[in-house]
Amino acid sequence: MAVSFDQQDGYIWFNGEFVQWADAKVHVLTHGLHYASAVFEGERAYDGEIFKLTEHTERLHESARILGFKIPYSVEEIDEACRQLLAKQGMKDAYVRPIAWRGSESMGVSAQNNRINLAIAIWEWPSYFDPEQKLKGIRLDIAEYRRPDPRTAPSKSKAAGLYMICTLSKHAAEAKGYADAMMLDWRGQVAEATGANIFFVKDGKLHTPTPDCFLNGITRQTIIDLAKRRGIEVVERVIMPEELEGFEQCFICGTAAEVTPVAEIGPYSFKPAEITKVLMEDYSNEVRPGLRAAAE
Ligand SMILES: Cc1ncc(COP(=O)(O)O)c(C=O)c1O
Repeated sequence: MAVSFDQQDGYIWFNGEFVQWADAKVHVLTHGLHYASAVFEGERAYDGEIFKLTEHTERLHESARILGFKIPYSVEEIDEACRQLLAKQGMKDAYVRPIAWRGSESMGVSAQNNRINLAIAIWEWPSYFDPEQKLKGIRLDIAEYRRPDPRTAPSKSKAAGLYMICTLSKHAAEAKGYADAMMLDWRGQVAEATGANIFFVKDGKLHTPTPDCFLNGITRQTIIDLAKRRGIEVVERVIMPEELEGFEQCFICGTAAEVTPVAEIGPYSFKPAEITKVLMEDYSNEVRPGLRAAAE
């Protein structure tokens, strides 16, 4: 049995202090737990350096701003806390999870004066998908839930509440034997996976949905840069699910998923081939400081 996540060894950075991992607790009457007033980040460290750390921390600040609160630590202070914690955990390759939430000073929908808390945890998380499956290409279901209209939910914030439909969709997919699910948006257009953005390949070009109601992922933006460096054209546009029939390759990407080839989405099949493989490799070089320097 794997050790439960609240019982691991090491430290958690909690409101400015390093506390023992098992002691990083919150009260049950926490606004963030009852009303999802929480925002978080997912980052990865490679060879001792957190990839695009400041971009992640800036997005954390922006996510909080969208939810109407201000994190009481600057971007520089949070960056430094992440770096110090990585060193204290003695890890070089790891996953980094900062989370900010409204505290327990008052209960009710309104929580104007509740404390804004910030915690950071770092753990080893090698591959988001089964490595063997990953190389063959994973299988995705098509989710029933849809990414909401930005007028219905704060879709540009990496807000905990937006993951409710992701967990539901991922669980439904797993129950049917799929690794994950592709979600459409409220208009019925292709949007993303439950924790990663999506790309398709056709006639040597990359096609990816315009991120107007879901996260424009930091990995997504990195992939677009890497493709452009290779002279691969990237088309950001509306993609309808019927078009999946005509695409040759597909992959999803995100900090946790990195670049993961997709072999099937519902009734549609794809063959991981050259462009996917090149971008997988370029991405794995880009995230490692030594290899990135060598490629420049
Ligand atoms: C729903 C969702 N979309 C996209 C992404 C990709 O974002 P990033 O590449 O910044 O990690 C994530 C998170 O990793 C996510 O949870």
